[in-house]
Amino acid sequence: LGTVEVELAGIPEGSTATIKWRGKPVFIRHRTADQIAAAGSDDESDLRDPEADQHRVQDPKWCVVLGVCTHLGCVPVADAGDYGGWFCPCHGSHYDLSGRIRKGPAPTNLEVPPYSFIEDGEKLLL
Ligand code: FES
Repeated sequence: LGTVEVELAGIPEGSTATIKWRGKPVFIRHRTADQIAAAGSDDESDLRDPEADQHRVQDPKWCVVLGVCTHLGCVPVADAGDYGGWFCPCHGSHYDLSGRIRKGPAPTNLEVPPYSFIEDGEKLLL
């Protein structure tokens, strides 16, 4: 297993950190209360790849996804796009605050890598 430890205190609320894991970017997004509420309320939307937000996160504050667009593999940009999550500039895929595909050519949601919280939730282990 790849083992990368990330200090969560270094990621302010509302921001997204990008780390390298097994040669791929992983986004660790510290969601605000409003973003958590928005992601949950979108569960009822017409989703291309239906998944409830609570099944994509272990702690609602932290959305952890691979930074690899499920269309052709570009790296999406955080805090962009029509749904406030990520936007892939290569061909225009819009992902929401849970990393779910909402618009554009990508077929599936951003993948959630295996991870766990350690040291009383102070660190994330990938
Ligand atoms: Fe992201 Fe095509 S690679 S939209």
